[in-house]
Amino acid sequence: MRPSFDNRTNPYMSVKQYIQDHQEKFLNELFDLLRIPSVSADPKFKGDVLSAAEFVKDSLISAGADKVEVCPTAGYPIVYGEKIIDPSLPTVLVYGHYDVQPADPYDLWDSPPFEPVIKKTEMHPEGAIFARGSADDKGQFFMHVKAFEAMMSTGTLACNIKFMIEGEEEVGSENLDIFVKANKEKLKSDVVLISDTSMISMETPSITVGLRGLAYMQVEVTGPNRDLHSGSYGGAVANPINILCKMIASMQDENNHITIPGFYDKVEELSSEYRAELNKAPFDLEEYKKLLAIDDIHGEKGYTTLERTGIRPTLDVNGIWGGYIGEGAKTVLPSKAYAKISMRLVPNQEHKEIAQLFEDHFKSIAPASVKVKVTPHHGGQPAVIPTDSAGYRAAQGAVMEAFGKKAIPTREGGSIPITSLFQKELGLDPILMGFGLDTDAIHSPNEHYGVKNYLIGIETISLFFKHFKEEASK
Ligand code: BES
Ligand code: MN
Ligand code: MN
Repeated sequence: MRPSFDNRTNPYMSVKQYIQDHQEKFLNELFDLLRIPSVSADPKFKGDVLSAAEFVKDSLISAGADKVEVCPTAGYPIVYGEKIIDPSLPTVLVYGHYDVQPADPYDLWDSPPFEPVIKKTEMHPEGAIFARGSADDKGQFFMHVKAFEAMMSTGTLACNIKFMIEGEEEVGSENLDIFVKANKEKLKSDVVLISDTSMISMETPSITVGLRGLAYMQVEVTGPNRDLHSGSYGGAVANPINILCKMIASMQDENNHITIPGFYDKVEELSSEYRAELNKAPFDLEEYKKLLAIDDIHGEKGYTTLERTGIRPTLDVNGIWGGYIGEGAKTVLPSKAYAKISMRLVPNQEHKEIAQLFEDHFKSIAPASVKVKVTPHHGGQPAVIPTDSAGYRAAQGAVMEAFGKKAIPTREGGSIPITSLFQKELGLDPILMGFGLDTDAIHSPNEHYGVKNYLIGIETISLFFKHFKEEASK
């Protein structure tokens, strides 16, 4: 009988063994990375973001990468490293980000955001790592570094590999855009592999084939030239907060359809067959409501929850402020009101065009009693990933081998703007093979990442290289 689990005849087993033998080390190293508060949005963490880049550099060097460099940009650096084992073999370009979202509000964390600990949860009975960035994206990109280490240490690396780990994803990847355009030759590869998304569950693995785009705006509404006594003037002078609320409310109609003229003009209408297929993904509405402690869902009429987050655009207020928000009551008619408003976009909407439509509309609905200012923040294009590529088949093969189940293609609501940049500039369709869960609380207090997800991710990534070599040569 052929010993199917023999290290000598099945090199992959040795990778699996290596991962098993180094669990403790792999977790400790990730913990060290998670201890660095690399918040790209807040200049107060500048030194930490730079230390995180150095950490990534060191981890690539010790895993066995060559030409490792911390490439400076106008913002935070991009860490590059590669291992070219044979130029005739296919090359996988790994992308990830070492920056994280701000951890605020700190008091809502059950344990400090930059002091990782493992705790059990309902979704993660084997334990999850609680820390800012554990799932988005340190825990996920670090799986690639560890998979690389495992393949190097067992002599099983099947493809060439290039790493590009950036530090500005959470603030719009502006400098990555410039870097990619300027370094096409250096980044030349056959597929891009990204783990910065989620899957349905450990029981139902999935591969992301669509991401939404983003147009992010800030608005300022000014009423009188100074704060007024709300008794002396109230009722006779426009209150900019009242006006702003009305303007925002008017941007969605009774069917929760967005009212900005032209907003839907380029939205791709998908066939009923495609929509039926999309809705086959397991989704438990009662569980969904229970987990969020809501009595009902809310969204655009005529679409399911999976469609509302996967294939339909949105308009949401992310923050709104003005007037008095301190202790007690202060009677004031404020001079100014502000809001941050984001729109998630779907193919074939164009984020700059949508930002312009928003601005024109917002100005047109402002009454003469106020002045408005609209400032666009970062944006990004939506992306759809074809499923008929060697990369997608390799991901399918890897998931099948690691999970014992076929991965379901899903369209997710989040945005990774560089996905469409890779498609446009490098002509490559990124494979979005992420291992987080929607319940991991990314961008939220108590962000966490399953220990099991981390380990099976490392295994699946290693398998991807084996399958990609086979698929690419077909
Ligand atoms: N990893 C997320 C994107 C994501 C989240 C994809 C959930 C799929 C599911 C990424 O780090 C992120 O947060 N992107 C931002 C956009 C960016 C321009 C700030 C987002 O989606 O809000
Ligand atoms: Mn991310
Ligand atoms: Mn993020």
